[in-house]
Amino acid sequence: MESAAVFGLRERAQRVARWSSAGSVNPKFRSLEEAVLKGKLHPRNDVTINPSDNESIRSVLERTDKSRRRFIQSGLGISLLASIGGISIGGLLKSVSAAPVPPGPGFAGIGFESIAPNLSVIDTVTGQILSPLADAVTVPDGYLVDILAAWGDPISSGAPGWAPNASQGAEAQERQFGMHNDGMHFFPFLENGQPSSNRGIICVNHEYTHESVLHADGLDEVSGGLPGSLATIDKIRKSQAAHGISVLEIRRIGNGSWHIVKDSRYARRITANTPMRLSGPAAGYSLLRTKVYEIQPFASIPLGLLTDGTAGRGTLNNCAHGVTPWGTYLTCEENWNGYFGWKNPAHAQTKLEKRYGITRDGTTITVPPNPATSTYKWHIVDDRFDVDITPNEPNTFGWRVEIDPKDPSSTPVKRTAMGRFKAESATLATDPDRRFGFYMGDDERNEYIYKFVCARPWDPTNSAANKDLLDDGVLYVARFTSVPGATPGTFRGSWISLVPDTDTVFTDSEGNRLKLRQLTDFSGATDAEVLANILVKTRMAADAVGATMMDRPEWTAVRPRVAGFTRLEVYCTLTNNNRRGNLPASVNNPDGSTSAGSARPPVDIVNPRPDNDYGHIIRWREDGNTVTALAFEWDVFVFCGDTRAASHVPSPKTLATGSYSATGHDGYIGDVRDIPDGSSDFGAPDGLWFDYFGRLWIQTDQMGDGSGDWQKIGSNMMLCADPNTKETRRFLTSPPRSEVTGVITTPDGKSMFVGIQHPGEEARTANPTEFSDWPKAQFGGPGGRPRSAVLSITRIDGGIIGA
Ligand code: FEO
Ligand code: CA
Ligand code: CA
Repeated sequence: MESAAVFGLRERAQRVARWSSAGSVNPKFRSLEEAVLKGKLHPRNDVTINPSDNESIRSVLERTDKSRRRFIQSGLGISLLASIGGISIGGLLKSVSAAPVPPGPGFAGIGFESIAPNLSVIDTVTGQILSPLADAVTVPDGYLVDILAAWGDPISSGAPGWAPNASQGAEAQERQFGMHNDGMHFFPFLENGQPSSNRGIICVNHEYTHESVLHADGLDEVSGGLPGSLATIDKIRKSQAAHGISVLEIRRIGNGSWHIVKDSRYARRITANTPMRLSGPAAGYSLLRTKVYEIQPFASIPLGLLTDGTAGRGTLNNCAHGVTPWGTYLTCEENWNGYFGWKNPAHAQTKLEKRYGITRDGTTITVPPNPATSTYKWHIVDDRFDVDITPNEPNTFGWRVEIDPKDPSSTPVKRTAMGRFKAESATLATDPDRRFGFYMGDDERNEYIYKFVCARPWDPTNSAANKDLLDDGVLYVARFTSVPGATPGTFRGSWISLVPDTDTVFTDSEGNRLKLRQLTDFSGATDAEVLANILVKTRMAADAVGATMMDRPEWTAVRPRVAGFTRLEVYCTLTNNNRRGNLPASVNNPDGSTSAGSARPPVDIVNPRPDNDYGHIIRWREDGNTVTALAFEWDVFVFCGDTRAASHVPSPKTLATGSYSATGHDGYIGDVRDIPDGSSDFGAPDGLWFDYFGRLWIQTDQMGDGSGDWQKIGSNMMLCADPNTKETRRFLTSPPRSEVTGVITTPDGKSMFVGIQHPGEEARTANPTEFSDWPKAQFGGPGGRPRSAVLSITRIDGGIIGA
């Protein structure tokens, strides 16, 4: 008997009907039937494996591993797999019925059993795919999965439904759920004075767009579009409308499904063109004064004016997020640089453009430089994104943007006090005395970890007093050392303030340290102006003070101080760094002149793996358990990897030998603590969140096609870890070439929202479903193009997710 838990349906009633009428096949649920078939052969934790079968399929994989780095994707698959009776890919895993992970201090335990990875299997003798990656989300037995919102879904009354042929334009997209959702947060309404777990507002980031899927004919043949597909203002406006944030009122009816409340007064889309306010220490200074455009559907019309440095338009590449104690949303602008470029061949890249990765063609696909390979091409038809025409426009991006979800008429505010970089999450920590701050990563190879500490505590009784708290505080950058900490196995680190008076690594002729205010890049008439320059050029300031280059800091997570746990403990995913340990070695120049992501730093104690393609997760405990601490002790929580790597790589590397070669294969085994060993391996950790009961949820972002280093790890996933013992279990696996990103629960922990981003990534317009037709493949409904979506996950028994 298959578990209903594995396969969600949009309508709970239909789901129940489906599973209670096993003999009949409703054509409407053809995709579900396929999923059932797939599920029968999918690894499960509750079956006994025949050791001989186990061995035979294992040997098939061994041959696969030795001879190939990539699985072949083809139309073969389920039917073929169905025909080869007796082969169980369940044998790939040792299956046991695992005991729950017991609770501990500050941690409520894990009650579900680890699910198997979503793998593809091929026979390398015949080249046939024995099983492709399942085009489905899978969760443990006893759980239900539904779609809350998918790209193109109407978010308000009167908004048009999604058009599977992508024929709709910007006007429709501005009223629909955006593309490629990422970080999100649920803001509960109050019911009887208590936070509701049935009704509230969810804010969802839309990080980026896939132009080959977004537009009916794509965007340029070289970039994956149809022949003759060109950049037009209509397409660029649609792309801009698919970015930003969705603010949705959602409701759960009884114990049933979650729905968008379309006639809600809160329903709102924020896009790349929404008016924004710039606030804080850098606001009003010259670097933020940019040209004023009237945004029309057919053009951005220059008005011949400059702003006063307190106004901007739009938010871009909103990846992870944060929330404030007073109930506002902080969205983080990550790879905003990729939307800018220039048309004038005479334009010389400035030092600031270089340090933040602003290049002629913006983000490009990986072919030799060619304007056609520009992914977005906004700068070609919208002068606002041509830095030769609007040199200060990029300076209005790279910030944390505060949005009040309960005031749909409010103007989002970019908080410049929190620094400017490619921000990945801004995670709140609050002390018992209501001092508070945010932990932030700058996600690019060799970038830094930051902390912003507000100058004053927040006031729970006077919301007006909190209104501009984020404009006043100190930004710090992290330096990690090898000095042992007080706790065995830990090391010391410190926070360096990025203020005018901070010492840099430069000295004068007498050997005295130069301060940030003495460096030309930050100089100003007053310290206020110096601070403004430091904040706009945050990366360069961090270079100058000797911050530690990290392996792509992604999400940060703050462990809740509950159930006997009282420390201020912060975690950060370091997703990967394929330049770490490369030769010839180089570092970010202290004078801020490095091209973004170009250095090849040697390994160090906190980033100890050369060619770190599986990534790791670090954590630190603040001295005095206060967010205002200037120092901390840190350790590595986990080195991600493939436990069985030693069986399939020519020369496995270990931390002890670190035998990197540029052409070698990274065979890191990692130290994921799972039972049995290897049952919950993962890599490329990205999303990271503590639930309200102290469980650490980890989401991954690798290619997701089960190729190369990922043959035995498969598609992306979400896992749950015990922060005390580090025991980790796999909770969810995703469709091919998708990323799992964004997670939040209702206050009672009984509904979880999880983002599935870019299923079938890299498909070309000629065949959008080449790699995935999810969610249709699992849930039915319209298809023909894969769609990013937010899942709602509940338990059949109504229990707490993860318990
Ligand atoms: Fe958008 Fe760094 O992930
Ligand atoms: Ca392991
Ligand atoms: Ca991310």
